[in-house]
Amino acid sequence: MAPRKIDITINDQKVTVLEDSYLIKAIIGAGIALPTLCHHKDLTPNGTCRLCMCEIELKGRRRLVTACNYPVREEMTVWTKSERVVKHRKVLAEMYLGRWPNVPVIQDVARRCGVTDGSAFASDLTDPNPKACILCGHCVKACEEFIQERILDFAGRGILRHLTMPFGETDPHCIGCTSCAFVCPTGAIQVVEELNHPVDVRLIQRHGMKVNAEMATLDKVQCRMREVGTANIVEVMDKYDLLPVMNYKFGSHPETYKVDSKVLKERYFTQNSPDGCWFGCSMSCAKAVDGYELRTGPYKGQRVTVDGPEYETVGACTNMGCFDPDFIVEFNFYCDTYGIDVISAGTGIAFVMECFEAGVITKADTGGLDLSFGACDSVLELLHQMSRGEGFGVECGQGIRWLKEKWIREGRGDAQFIRDVGMEVKGLEFSEYVSKESLAQQAGYSMAVKGPQHDEAWLIFMDMVNNQIPSFEDKAEALYYFPLWRTWFGLHGLCKIVWNDVAPADNKKYPPQQAAKIPEHVDNYFKFYEGMTGEKLDEEKMLAQSARVHNLQRLMSVMFGFGRREDDVPPYRAIGPVTAEEYLSRAERYDGQLKSVLGLDPEKMTLDEKRAALRTHREAQYQKVMDAAYARRGWTPDGVPTKARLRELGIDLPELLALAAD
Ligand code: SF4
Ligand code: SF4
Ligand code: FES
Repeated sequence: MAPRKIDITINDQKVTVLEDSYLIKAIIGAGIALPTLCHHKDLTPNGTCRLCMCEIELKGRRRLVTACNYPVREEMTVWTKSERVVKHRKVLAEMYLGRWPNVPVIQDVARRCGVTDGSAFASDLTDPNPKACILCGHCVKACEEFIQERILDFAGRGILRHLTMPFGETDPHCIGCTSCAFVCPTGAIQVVEELNHPVDVRLIQRHGMKVNAEMATLDKVQCRMREVGTANIVEVMDKYDLLPVMNYKFGSHPETYKVDSKVLKERYFTQNSPDGCWFGCSMSCAKAVDGYELRTGPYKGQRVTVDGPEYETVGACTNMGCFDPDFIVEFNFYCDTYGIDVISAGTGIAFVMECFEAGVITKADTGGLDLSFGACDSVLELLHQMSRGEGFGVECGQGIRWLKEKWIREGRGDAQFIRDVGMEVKGLEFSEYVSKESLAQQAGYSMAVKGPQHDEAWLIFMDMVNNQIPSFEDKAEALYYFPLWRTWFGLHGLCKIVWNDVAPADNKKYPPQQAAKIPEHVDNYFKFYEGMTGEKLDEEKMLAQSARVHNLQRLMSVMFGFGRREDDVPPYRAIGPVTAEEYLSRAERYDGQLKSVLGLDPEKMTLDEKRAALRTHREAQYQKVMDAAYARRGWTPDGVPTKARLRELGIDLPELLALAAD
């Protein structure tokens, strides 16, 4: 139930506030000044300095309370400057000034209390340091509330109270986020190593604090990145029919519960604290499994630490029909150890499995390995063979494009089927999302200059879950903006996760297309850039910076023979259902689309007719989206950047003009 509004009186002024909110909010909101030392707007109250003391009357009873942690009640009357209050504050201010005479915030607060001399309280404890710790507790709270750590805390009692780290030693769990230094009002905590010598470290810290505060409060209700990392989306993808299952035939599976984030958290993840894959990051999405005993391969029997699994590793395994969490951890370990990309390995083997089940290859080709979907042991053996350069592993390790061409050349099975289910574009294996129902995602992946990965555009959530880019034009615009935006932060070596995995609580106040950009988080990156370089950045400048590189990359693709329209077309499995089994598994959806989008009557059509009609429609849609995106990017209908676009971007170098179109 939403808190109700109530009326209270502050210094004879009627003020309307939310019941149970802290009194200090009402006082500040009413424009009344109040001296404080331990209050911080982004932290929960400490209530230690006692300077915010006010006199209240409630139900006929008068008393002194600290405004920063006292909740307002109906019909409360408040005096911020009563005789008792003023007297009380003066004594406190004298004591503070006596102990820390040269600290500017103390001098300021004392002045506001009408005190300029604290010598009556001078003692052996008087600290002349202008940057002395005044025991306000902001740093302790920041560490606890933003980073969920207790690196700093108080020790000692009364006048011996002091700030310290556990046992007075440096704590390795400190991720160096600098939140404590940022909130310290005296400068007692200083960032001594500013790494890359930013121009304005305060600007970076201010925005870093914003991110930290969001992580502390919103992550647990949005993504749970701190808790389970990217694995949080395994069950989400399954729910939305987007989790790759059996070479992208399906988008969900009844056994997904065996490998979802709950299982990984409860049975596997051992490193859930901020682990600083990016020093200072409070999201700390990287997770690990400690003490896992390997069942196969050269390290069989050894206990190892496994870095992961992330969502993509789980998706790569479900794509092979494997729903055994032990297998996922082992597959993760050996891919990392052999230096093999889990996505390429998973997608590549999933393709081989579908071809094995369809009879394109047999055990005679695989060296006796049963490569049916779900054959976890065979997958591990194949992976070991790939690393050793032995057996069928030699061929499998060449990747999908190579295998497709070989098997078609050898006349094995149906060439169209092999082309349709071999999930690669430009020679790179598809990443782990089913894109069939999202035109924007199909194009986002397939038009990416480096192949179908989400370094450029991952639009599936915007398109299908949040419905932020419903029209054709919206999708084309998204295919212009997001590849440039993602290229920009990739170029600057900045992590993507803090951009859109957790969104500000009020992000929905923007219209859908704007909301998809998460404007306040884009601004965080701009401020980081400004803090590092001293140069202000806005969307226009960012897009111009990025477009230069993006166009350069595209021209390099043209040069290497991967940068034209035909290279941006995915296999049909990425666009729609290839097989009868696949169509039938989602018949209601596809029949519905034939009816509502194409005006056909599926009742009167054979299954083959329905599949053909859907395919013709979806492939035509894909061609249209390519046209729109090329036009928006300033490329020709063949997908090549024009000379005019290069001139506009200021990169009309002779070598590039030679590759560009007229
Ligand atoms: S730098 Fe961050 S993690 Fe380390 S003590 Fe300060 S707030 Fe805590
Ligand atoms: S170090 Fe700074 S923030 Fe921490 S208690 Fe002391 S004065 Fe407050
Ligand atoms: S500001 Fe309220 S007790 Fe310090």
